[in-house]
Amino acid sequence: MIKAAEWIDLTGKVAHVTGGGKGIGKGIATALAMAGAKVMVSDINLETAQQTANEIGGAAMALNVADRDQVDAAMAQTVEALGSLDILVNNAGLYLGYGGPVENITDEMWQALWSVNVDGVFYCCRAAATIMKQQGGGRIINIASTQARTPGVGVTYDGSKAAVEMITKSLALELAPHGINVNALAPGPTWVNEGEPPPVDAQVPPKSGDPLADTVADRIARLPLGHWGDPMEQGKAAVFLASDLSSFVTGIYLPCDGGWLTL
Ligand SMILES: NC(=O)c1ccc[n+]([C@@H]2O[C@H](COP(=O)([O-])OP(=O)(O)OC[C@H]3O[C@@H](n4cnc5c(N)ncnc54)[C@H](O)[C@@H]3O)[C@@H](O)[C@H]2O)c1
Repeated sequence: MIKAAEWIDLTGKVAHVTGGGKGIGKGIATALAMAGAKVMVSDINLETAQQTANEIGGAAMALNVADRDQVDAAMAQTVEALGSLDILVNNAGLYLGYGGPVENITDEMWQALWSVNVDGVFYCCRAAATIMKQQGGGRIINIASTQARTPGVGVTYDGSKAAVEMITKSLALELAPHGINVNALAPGPTWVNEGEPPPVDAQVPPKSGDPLADTVADRIARLPLGHWGDPMEQGKAAVFLASDLSSFVTGIYLPCDGGWLTL
């Protein structure tokens, strides 16, 4: 009988994590490395990508996911440097604030966010799918958000994450015959300011008068599991989606949210 640990083992696999210099991306890159994968950490900020890579024994590169030429080159360079591309984690994403009411949201504000959260995910999926089809399989994990299903932080961000969910399902269907599983991981509130303790409920600010911000603060205060998420908790969920544990799983939206979506 084999050990279940073998299902988790990513030895021999190569992962590319975008936006891996800090926050959730760093947690995911670390967890994948802990499971045995060789990890290419990319980020628009090369310095932080290099720091993560140094900590986990991986490699690093600069990448702005909103630039399609950089994306194509980065995925090819991952194969050149590490031998294959078995797991892609599309983590790089922006939240630029509410920005509303809606009539105040400029084209520039909209495009600044969608170019990263949506165009970036598409460019990376396209480049990786091309390589993974030639390889005969792979895993793509797109980082969505609970905001894809519960509006609250503004149309620009909420809309972008709903797009990520449907891009995931659409590609799961298209790429399944090629052995490529495509899934979305949907973090709930996850504390990404390393070195600073997350606020506890009692420190949630009083009502601000902004209905969107108040909705989010209220949900955080009532989070069923009672604490902010940690990037490594997102990393554990990513290991599930990257490994043989999820061999029969594609096209899902996996909340890792402390119960947020039950509220
Ligand atoms: N933190 C949360 O509570 C939360 C909740 C739901 C979803 N998410 C999603 O998780 C992902 C990571 O969020 P986070 O909170 O860790 O953010 P973060 O700001 O802590 O880290 C994001 C990283 O992405 C990099 N980045 C930004 N723009 C980039 C670009 N154009 N190309 C490449 N890298 C770029 C940044 O330099 C940074 O290292 C995002 O997609 C975000 O929307 C976060």
